[in-house]
Amino acid sequence: MKLLEELAPGDKDRELALTLDPAKIPAHIAIIMDGNGRWAKRRGLPRVAGHKVGVNTVRTTVEDCANLGVKALTLYAFSAENWKRPATEVEVLWRLLRFYLRHELEDLQRNNIRLQSIGRVEALPERVYEELRAVERATARNQGMRLNLAINYSARVEITDAVNTIIDEARIGGKLDSLVVNEKMIAQRLYTAGLPEPDLLIRTSGEMRVSNFLLWQIAYAELYVTETLWPDFNRTELLRAVLDFQRRERRFGGLAPEQETGAAAGLNEGDGEQEMEEIAVSSQ
Ligand code: FPP
Repeated sequence: MKLLEELAPGDKDRELALTLDPAKIPAHIAIIMDGNGRWAKRRGLPRVAGHKVGVNTVRTTVEDCANLGVKALTLYAFSAENWKRPATEVEVLWRLLRFYLRHELEDLQRNNIRLQSIGRVEALPERVYEELRAVERATARNQGMRLNLAINYSARVEITDAVNTIIDEARIGGKLDSLVVNEKMIAQRLYTAGLPEPDLLIRTSGEMRVSNFLLWQIAYAELYVTETLWPDFNRTELLRAVLDFQRRERRFGGLAPEQETGAAAGLNEGDGEQEMEEIAVSSQ
């Protein structure tokens, strides 16, 4: 874990990082960055001040995740619904995104990070779109962590687009009549095709919602909600989230290994009558 090399002995984050199991670092972390507006309001500042500090948190979180050995990090930067915000706030968000792209390119290259956007980015103001594409092209060959920025993103639109692509492909191939869509076909046409699904979904600011984010991909993600507002999220918080993730028992709909043998024990072939009676007796 490169992170340990960065942390001096005695640093509390180093102590925390040492408690992590390096073999169980989540391959993909997704984050709903929330609470910028509240952070600013609590300080009597305009909302955009929270977004500004939030960019700094983006910078440090990207670097920390790369140093932890995370393979993919997906950040929810702008949802398809965020257009409903005042035009001035949306404008500031685009300015901040451009600022981030310009100032971070060097760091992304140094850390071998590949930046990609996910979402309908063609709808962005042209200059923002061009700069985004330029950074995507410039980092396209980087083999380290993949950084997905979800911008003008909606999971429902993503899934609908994937299904329509499948239909179009079948139509072009003259196979529409016999088309049967399966999960693999959809997954391969999502923005995240080829990436592992998120293992851990972090949401800041305490809201218990998934807000139309990666709905398909988070089917088995572990959820971690912290009260901390995005501008205050830091390395300690990230390490706590990963530690919490490592303590969870992931079963993907199955049973824990120690439960598996117990569940099968004592069951005979039959029509279930006996089992129902046993359950009724044992639950009395
Ligand atoms: C949610 O806070 C945050 C956003 C809608 C935008 C996130 C954007 C950034 C962190 C900055 C730009 C991003 C990049 C990648 C450079 P909110 O405004 O909904 O907060 P509130 O719920 O407290 O009002």
